[in-house]
Amino acid sequence: MMTRPDALQWWQRGSIYHVYPRSFQDANGDGIGDLPGITGRLEYCRWLGCDAVWLSPIYPSPMADFGYDVADHTGVDPRFGTLDDFDRLMAEARRLGLRILMDYVPNHTSEQHPWFVASRSSRHDPHRHWYVWRDPAPGGGPPNNWLSVFGGSSWTFDPTTGQYYLHSYLKEQPDLNWRNPEVERAMLDVMRFWLERGVHGFRIDSVSRLVKDAEFRDNPPNPDYRPGQAPYHQQRATYSADRPDLLPILARMRQLADRYADTVLLGEAYLPAARLRAYYGEGRPGLHFPFNFQLIRSPWDAAAVGSLVEQYEAELPAGLWPNWVLGNHDNHRVATRIGRRQARVAAMLLLTLRGTPVLYYGDEIGMVDVAVPADRVRDPWEKNVPGLGLGRDPERSPMQWDAGPHAGFSTAAPWLPVAGDHRQVNVALQREDPRSMLSLVRALLAIRAAHPALFGGRYVPVPSPHPDVMLYRREAENERFLVALNFGGAPREIGLGSPGERGSVVVSTLLDRAGEPVETPLCLRPDEGLLLAVGSG
Ligand code: GLC
Ligand code: CA
Repeated sequence: MMTRPDALQWWQRGSIYHVYPRSFQDANGDGIGDLPGITGRLEYCRWLGCDAVWLSPIYPSPMADFGYDVADHTGVDPRFGTLDDFDRLMAEARRLGLRILMDYVPNHTSEQHPWFVASRSSRHDPHRHWYVWRDPAPGGGPPNNWLSVFGGSSWTFDPTTGQYYLHSYLKEQPDLNWRNPEVERAMLDVMRFWLERGVHGFRIDSVSRLVKDAEFRDNPPNPDYRPGQAPYHQQRATYSADRPDLLPILARMRQLADRYADTVLLGEAYLPAARLRAYYGEGRPGLHFPFNFQLIRSPWDAAAVGSLVEQYEAELPAGLWPNWVLGNHDNHRVATRIGRRQARVAAMLLLTLRGTPVLYYGDEIGMVDVAVPADRVRDPWEKNVPGLGLGRDPERSPMQWDAGPHAGFSTAAPWLPVAGDHRQVNVALQREDPRSMLSLVRALLAIRAAHPALFGGRYVPVPSPHPDVMLYRREAENERFLVALNFGGAPREIGLGSPGERGSVVVSTLLDRAGEPVETPLCLRPDEGLLLAVGSG
């Protein structure tokens, strides 16, 4: 049975705003975003209508992978501020009724983390088995064929002790050994530290890689690999990721999180929908939800998107909560992938589907990828594997707050280039414009929050009369909405469904038809999405 909308938790009813701290707001004029900057902008996140803010890592880090290489899990990098700044951010969030989620990076640390410094110092060091060390293969060379996500082998030889250590990502990011109970204890303490400081949960980085095959078997080749893809995809990660023995660890993380009120655990795992189920827990609860990245990967057409939504809905057993994402700091921006007009349609989709929406900063104003000249590339992935478009700098450009210098992000030249369009595309202008993308996202968030059918009701697919149009209803006890999305650039006529049905426009993605009575056939303009309140007359 469907959970009654009034029994849902805050993270089921609400939405999450994802901040990439280096790029949100710089308060001290060094060109890098920081905690005081974010604190000053929390009011904006609340005004927009989000319920929680997820911060990408802010911990002390050599920044080989811009914070995803953590050197101290319970501190704040001086570039971002201090623990006091963090506490001030928490206080401001509480004042505004916003919750804060941290990024938790359990799969690996920085090579400069004291645990790894100790681990590599001697085969007999007490921290040796906190990481994954193996002898060279019998004939020499790496212990097996596993590839690093960021290019090359995932093994690096360390001459001091004559063994290889494992790193799923950069060699500066050695993988922790989660088969060692001491690692689990120390990393659960990290969670406890932040929960005690008042955060309401975590986005768990690279969660599917925590545990590897105990026998370190070679990965098989990937028959679907196409040249142009990241070299990492030449093999299937059969033995290096998504191992069933990681599920008990997730259950223990959940057990800890559940001791604190209203917490939520979200996990990053790029896996097929059918595999994601396990991450909710088997027997015992695991994550509240693993991220569902299908909208980022799917071709942008009504049939493909309609069928992936239907399949995901069908595969999730009752009680497992869905979620939807259009972008993040690892993927090209939605407005670049599908264009600004369709980005509005995508926003309506994201905010009217069943399940928690997670919004990437700047997508609400239609920010696009920024071209990064070769001499300004910062992302290590682009540096290791150039020329394939894998670099993630373009989607990490500074937030466009206003038309002033550096888009209001900083008083100094930012660490990544600001988009050339920031004088036309920015928060200040769009706040004043009732037809802007920002006004659309804000309106949709408010409508979603106000209507049980939208945040908690059933999803009912409706057969579409045209391949460019996706139709579905959202229904609760006393209300019914129809969503009609035109994925194409031509006008389309649609029938309203059951005979006698009538209603009115709640919002059009073009923001000019609210309140218009709806009659059949309904005309959808090019690239238009409509949210309609419907009933039988
Ligand atoms: C995740 C993060 C990504 C990072 C990687 C290694 O995929 O989202 O930004 O580079 O993990 O930590
Ligand atoms: Ca700064």
